[in-house]
Amino acid sequence: MSLLRHSLVLSILFASPAAAQNLDSLLGRMTLEEKLGQLNLLSAGGRASPAQMQLAREGKLGGLFNVIGAENTTPVQRIAVTESRLKIPLLFGLDVIHGYRTIFPIPLAEAGSFDPDAAQATARAAGLEAAAAGISWTYAPMVDIARDPRWGRIAEGSGEDPYLGSLMAAARVKGFQETIFATAKHFAGYGAAEAGREYNTTEITERTMREIYLPPFKAAVDAGVASLMSAFNDIAGVPSSGNAWLTGTVLRREWGFNGFVVSDWTSVAELIQHGVAAGPSEAGRRALTSGVDMDMQSSIYVDSLPALVRANRIPMAVVDSAVMRVLRAKMRLGLFRDPYRARTTPPVAETRALARRVARESIVLLKNDRNVLPLGRNTPTIAVIGPLADSKVDPLGPWHTLGQPEDVVTVLQGIRSHASATQVLYARGAGIDDSSTAGFAEAVAAAKRASVAVLVLGEREDMSGEAASRSMLGLPGVQEQLLEAVVATGTPVVLVLMNGHPLILEWAADHVPAIAETWFLGVEAGNAIADVLFGDANPSGKLPVTIPRSLGQIPLYYNHRNTGRPFEANNKFTSKYLDVPVTPRYPFGFGLSYTTFAYSNLKLSTARARTSDTVTATVTVANTGSREGTEVVQLYVHDEVASVARPVRELKGFQRVTLKSGESRAVDIRVGVRDLAFYGLDMKRVVEPGTFRVYAGPSSAEGQEARFEVIR
Ligand code: BGC
Repeated sequence: MSLLRHSLVLSILFASPAAAQNLDSLLGRMTLEEKLGQLNLLSAGGRASPAQMQLAREGKLGGLFNVIGAENTTPVQRIAVTESRLKIPLLFGLDVIHGYRTIFPIPLAEAGSFDPDAAQATARAAGLEAAAAGISWTYAPMVDIARDPRWGRIAEGSGEDPYLGSLMAAARVKGFQETIFATAKHFAGYGAAEAGREYNTTEITERTMREIYLPPFKAAVDAGVASLMSAFNDIAGVPSSGNAWLTGTVLRREWGFNGFVVSDWTSVAELIQHGVAAGPSEAGRRALTSGVDMDMQSSIYVDSLPALVRANRIPMAVVDSAVMRVLRAKMRLGLFRDPYRARTTPPVAETRALARRVARESIVLLKNDRNVLPLGRNTPTIAVIGPLADSKVDPLGPWHTLGQPEDVVTVLQGIRSHASATQVLYARGAGIDDSSTAGFAEAVAAAKRASVAVLVLGEREDMSGEAASRSMLGLPGVQEQLLEAVVATGTPVVLVLMNGHPLILEWAADHVPAIAETWFLGVEAGNAIADVLFGDANPSGKLPVTIPRSLGQIPLYYNHRNTGRPFEANNKFTSKYLDVPVTPRYPFGFGLSYTTFAYSNLKLSTARARTSDTVTATVTVANTGSREGTEVVQLYVHDEVASVARPVRELKGFQRVTLKSGESRAVDIRVGVRDLAFYGLDMKRVVEPGTFRVYAGPSSAEGQEARFEVIR
């Protein structure tokens, strides 16, 4: 934590007029090329190339990313701070998404823990490991809201809800920024890609932008995030990497953000492909004047903009502001004083223990008929089946930085070490996306010999993440047939899912008695899953996304509007499908436990509240089952009548509560009436008087109800 203290001291120093003057005078000594050099960010292939070292020497480089290890950051930093004319240190960026070497659950999984403290802890641990390797800046957290499970990057975010997404965003920013800089990305609306197709165009109204897509960015800014990354997508024809409304009006003027904005990988050059710039100079001018300070990987600022500035086509003041934002960030991080940064040694054992705890918390139990789970310790024979059962790569997830397969505990290993008295039979059954069923016979034979079969099925790690959209969301390859063949043996089946996209698995939901959604849980996946399978841990995760019944329902999210003809079973002319129910298979916020919880007696602290008030909802939650468990008590609100139709429910609070068997507790959740505001007809934030319905329950589809009125 010495680094934290160190950087805090520097931000105080920086706040002093002397430090600001130093930067002013530094700017005054810079040539135009050196200024634009500070805005130039390039990717290295593990270490800086000779050409990149030369750029550093010439002052034409602001930072590098993908330089791996302090042994590689140090030499090029030495060039920057000893051989360049002005000795300005470089930033070292890296995509430290959910761990550096110790890989934690993917962000989507972690969001299901509904535990922002856990997210802060894993970000802190990842930052510590990265800082020890010379990294000063991560391109995380990804805070894009995603309502479309086809979009591969849904795995990297916190799911569909802006409230949960905002808490997770702030927590991760705080965690990372104890040691390194964070980047909230991708600003903005990237998750709204049409048809879930990666990089696709978006159509987002200003209201939806402000109410759904922007809140997690605002939360990151309020948490002090150092940088934002502009997105690849266009919004109704205006690309995010050249969008003065987003990066100027909203981000800087309305929110007062004083950090810097970096483009995404070549997204400045891509303004040409979008069709809003005829060539590199125009693309660079559009991006820089819109508020994108740093150019990642296009080299356009440094190559093409000097001529435009000299021709007065870009005001020097615009360049200077961008440069100052980057220099201030370097100052705030402490790079001028300690360009190689304090060396820390991350605590290995604690980090592994944290990975296991958070992995356990992230698991969502979707189904558990006849209490198939937890498995008894003295189960005589368990068949462990499936292409992911002994995979050491896939649990690392789609973006695992320096995560190593040898660090991963597989499900098979986890089960073996938990059940030493049990005979564990293993059969792979099939590959993840093979078409061959040759391995089925062995799998079926193993299942027949066992008292229970654990099938570990799902996606390969590279089937989600960037550039990994899917148009079908079933199990790839022949896995579904494998599942059916094993279920047909009559041996009780536990389906353990590993996946980055939410999957649509109707057959399994109908026919498999127990299903656990584990996403990709990182290095401790196997231990955490075995902890849950054997009941050493009682599952408490909840879905951070809606699971549809069919592809045709997409987009399907819990906080939709009511429509003028909401679904009615007996009325044909209401909003529905002929061939599938309107409801999801599993709603947002859903997740079972090995115990049961009963909700009763929802009371509000007041029947009438003013905008400045806080309403406390108190609901009694009882553990009515036979073992201790943790419940995520969720509070939703619905504004019944407003000038603009409001969502049927909006999450406004939650609390994780641990109760012993038989214990009950009155749980208080406080909601500020101001937080019920929406964007009115005039696009100003407003809380309108009128009644609000409040729901407290175990998911977005259930709960106790109460009402209160907002008065003037
Ligand atoms: C991704 C970003 C990432 C960047 C740098 C891009 O392709 O969209 O999320 O930070 O590459 O690796």
